[in-house]
Amino acid sequence: MLILSLRSAHRRRLAVGGLILLAVILYRRFNWHDMEPGTLRSRMVGLQADSPEFQLGGEVFRILGGSIHYFRVPREYWRDRLLKMKACGLNTLTTYVPWNLHEPERGTFNFKGNLDLEAYIKLAGELGLWVILRPGPYICAEWDLGGLPSWLYRDPAMQLRSTYKGFTQAVDAFFSQLLPRVVPLQYKKGGPIIAVQVENEYGSFAVDTEYMPYMKEALLSRGIEELLMTSDNVDGLKKGNVEGALATINLQKLRDLHLSHLDSSQPQKPKMVMEFWSGWFDTWGDLHHVFTAEDMASVVMEILQKGLSINLYMFHGGTNFGFMNGALEMHSYKADVTSYDYDAPLSESGDYTAKYLLLREVFSKYHGESLPDVPALFPKMSYDASTVYQYMPLWEALQLAGEPFKSESPVNMENLPVNNGNGQSYGYTLYETTIPSGGTLHSNDKVRDRALVFVDSSFIGVLKYKHLELAVPEGKGNRKLSLLVENCGRVNYGKTLNNQRKGLVGDILLNGTPLKNFIIYSLDMKPRFMERLKYSHWKEVPDKPTVPGFFRGMLFVDGYPGDTFVKLPGWSKGVVFINGQNLGRYWSIGPQQTLYLPAPWLHSGINEVIVFEEQEAEKTIHFVNSPDLGMAVDVE
Ligand code: GLA
Repeated sequence: MLILSLRSAHRRRLAVGGLILLAVILYRRFNWHDMEPGTLRSRMVGLQADSPEFQLGGEVFRILGGSIHYFRVPREYWRDRLLKMKACGLNTLTTYVPWNLHEPERGTFNFKGNLDLEAYIKLAGELGLWVILRPGPYICAEWDLGGLPSWLYRDPAMQLRSTYKGFTQAVDAFFSQLLPRVVPLQYKKGGPIIAVQVENEYGSFAVDTEYMPYMKEALLSRGIEELLMTSDNVDGLKKGNVEGALATINLQKLRDLHLSHLDSSQPQKPKMVMEFWSGWFDTWGDLHHVFTAEDMASVVMEILQKGLSINLYMFHGGTNFGFMNGALEMHSYKADVTSYDYDAPLSESGDYTAKYLLLREVFSKYHGESLPDVPALFPKMSYDASTVYQYMPLWEALQLAGEPFKSESPVNMENLPVNNGNGQSYGYTLYETTIPSGGTLHSNDKVRDRALVFVDSSFIGVLKYKHLELAVPEGKGNRKLSLLVENCGRVNYGKTLNNQRKGLVGDILLNGTPLKNFIIYSLDMKPRFMERLKYSHWKEVPDKPTVPGFFRGMLFVDGYPGDTFVKLPGWSKGVVFINGQNLGRYWSIGPQQTLYLPAPWLHSGINEVIVFEEQEAEKTIHFVNSPDLGMAVDVE
C-alpha cells in the first residue's frame, strides 16, 4: 500500500513537473504574457490566406493598411504619425527597409536612431497596429537605386536583382543582420508582424527565374514564418510571384482586369491591393502631381466593397532627406524631388488633408467601435528670414574634402578609393585636369548626371543628358578645367538598374581627344565634412560672391521650435544643411519650392544654416509656415 501510494505521489510529482516544463516551453515559444486572453490558439497560426478572406486569430480579417517609411520621418514623429494612422481607421502599417541606409559600407551596419527598425515595429505593435514588412532587398520606392547600396557597383560584373553570386552573397550578409532583429517581432512570437513581402515588383524586372525562390528561401531560412506575399503591377503579376507566397496587386484605378487576373491565378484566395497609390511622386522640372480626394476615396470604397484588402501607398510619404531620392527613366532621366509628400492622406509635415478626412469616414464603417480622436496638430511656424553673413567658395572648401585622387582617366564615383574601399555613394564629385586650348568639349554621354563646367574657376556651362557639347573659349597657356558632377539620384525602377554608376563614367573629349590626368575630389558632404567646414575659415559675403559656394546664416528660434519650411527665392540650385542635417536638394525649376524642416532638428536659440549653392546665391533664407510643392497637375 505504502509503496503504491509513494509511487502514485511520485507519478503525480512527475506529471506536475512535466506540466510545468511544458508551460515553460510554451511560454518561451509564444510569449503568453504579450497576448490577449483567448488568442493563444490563434497565435500558433498566423495570418491565413487559404480561403477568399484572410483569417487572423481565428477570425475573418480585412487588412486596412497604410505605408509610412520610418526612414522618411524623423524618429521623434513616428508616434504622432502612427497615432494619426490609427485614428484614420487603419489596422496595419506597411514599411520598406532601405538596405543602402542600413549598410552604408559593406559590413558596417546601422540600426540606430532613425534607423531603429525594431523600435519602429514595436511602437506600431504597442499602438495596436499590425505590420507588413517589406524588406526588399530591392524596394523601388523612389529611393536611390531602389534601396540597393551603391558599393555593389565596385564589382564590375555586378548583376543586381539576380542570383549572381556577388549579389546574393551581399544580400545574405545583410539579411543575416536584418532578419534576426525582426524574427522575434513576428505574430507567432507575440509580435505585430503578420506578413512579409518577398522582394518588390520582381515581375517587372524578371531577368532570372531562380531569383525569387532564392529570396524566399533567404527569408525562410532565417526564421521568417509568417505569411509571405509578393506585390506587382498587373503586367508583372505572372512573373513576379513565387510558390508559397500570396500575390497582391499594385494600382491606382481598379479595373476588371485586375480582379480577373487575381481570380484566375489565385482562385479562392484573399485579394489584396498592396499598393493603392493614394497620390504620386514628383520629378524636378515637372509639375506637382495630385490625385483628387474624391477620386481617391471612390477607388478605396470600390476596393473595399469588392471585398479586397488594401494598403495605401503612401498613407504618409515624408521626405527624401539628404541625397536619397531616386530617379525615373522612362524616355529620359528625371530625378525625384526632395519632398515625398505624395499627395498622401497625411501631408509631408503630418497635417490632415481632405483625403484623410474622407478616408476616416470610409474606414470608420469597418470598425465595430468608434475611432480614436484625431491627435492635435503641431503648429507650423514662420521665422524671421536669416541674412547670409558668411561664405566659402567651393574652391577653398576643397582642402576639407580629404586627399584628392589622381587618375589618368576619369573614375566613376563608386570606384573612388574613399570610404574604406566602398567608393562614394552620393553627392558631388569634382574632376579637374588641364587643357592646352579651347575648342569643343564633348561629354561623350559620360556625365552622370549633371556637370557644371569651369575654366580657371569661371563657369562656362552645363553638360547633362541631351546636352553633350560645350564651347570652351580660347585662352593663354595651360588652364584648369573643372567638372563638378552631381549624382542627382539613381534610377529606382526599370531595366537600367545595372547601369546607374555616377560621376564621370568614361572619357570626356576635347576636340575629339580624351582628356587625361585628372585630380578627383569626393564631395559627399557627409557630417564629417560639414563639421570640418563649420570650424574653418569663413569670409564675409561680398556683393558678388563666387559660386559654387557654401553660405552660412542663422535661424533664431524663440522658445520651443516648431516645424517650418525653408524657402530660397532668388537662389538657383543646391543643398540645405540645418545644424549639420542634410535637408535635401532645392532647385528653382521646381515644382517644389520649399524644403520641410522638422522641429526636432531645431533648438531654441541660434540654429546654424548652411546652403551649398551651385549657381546663383541670394542674401536671405526664408522660413515660412506652409509648404509650396509647386503648380499642381492631376495624375491622370
Ligand atoms: C511601385 C513600387 C513602389 C513605388 C510605386 C510608385 O508600385 O513598388 O515602391 O515606387 O511604384 O510610387
